[in-house]
Amino acid sequence: MAQKLKVVVTAGPTREFVDPVRFLSNPSTGKMGFAVARAAAAAGHAVALVAGPVALKTPKGVRRVDVVSARDMLAAVAREVAAGADVLIATAAVADWRPKRRARQKLKKGEMDGTLALVRNPDILKTVRGVRKVGFAAETRNVLKEAVRKCREKDLELIVANDVTEKGCGFGTDTNRATLVRRDGTVVRLPLLTKLALARRIVREIEI
Ligand code: PMT
Repeated sequence: MAQKLKVVVTAGPTREFVDPVRFLSNPSTGKMGFAVARAAAAAGHAVALVAGPVALKTPKGVRRVDVVSARDMLAAVAREVAAGADVLIATAAVADWRPKRRARQKLKKGEMDGTLALVRNPDILKTVRGVRKVGFAAETRNVLKEAVRKCREKDLELIVANDVTEKGCGFGTDTNRATLVRRDGTVVRLPLLTKLALARRIVREIEI
């Protein structure tokens, strides 16, 4: 077997609460990230899975850390990296924005005026250093161009780009079609695969 790695995988959405009963989020189910965690553990690597709120069973042999918000996810990932992780594989759909204020009590309709002030969340993948990094790019247009830009900006060794508007791809599906873009500019277009088969392919990439 290839060298045993300590792998951190992020998965699922984050939730950014407006008040105790309302939040901003996205349709990520965690399927892609859980498949990566499962494939990495099956290949003999030590896997920490940092998961947003999802309804999936933890894969065998995987240590799971549950989080809610983007800031929780960043703190959990930073802890794993500080503890000596080798590779971070970021499949999570992290909310880029959060409400400027989180009300402690449920807001009454009369207390809302139809506007919501937002502030930027940290970019986990960009912030974290000292670990090999693999990112995903969820795109709806200019897939390759955006993937190349994110790969550079976030200093990634590999980015897995998926067009989330394509049938059988992206959020909630059991399959995905991805284009791999390596740091050296190599582009590999993969066919439609199950998320587990794609995950196995990504794990092989980090073993090189
Ligand atoms: O969970 P599923 O239902 O199986 O759906 C899978 C998926 C569509 C979520 C997955 O295949 C996918 O594309 N994940 C990346 C989603 C995303 O947020 O992409 P992005 O292009 O906005 O972000 C680029 C990269 O930066 C990603 O690796 C993301 O995890 C990371 N990021 C983004 C924003 C942020 N604040 N911090 C981050 O670390």
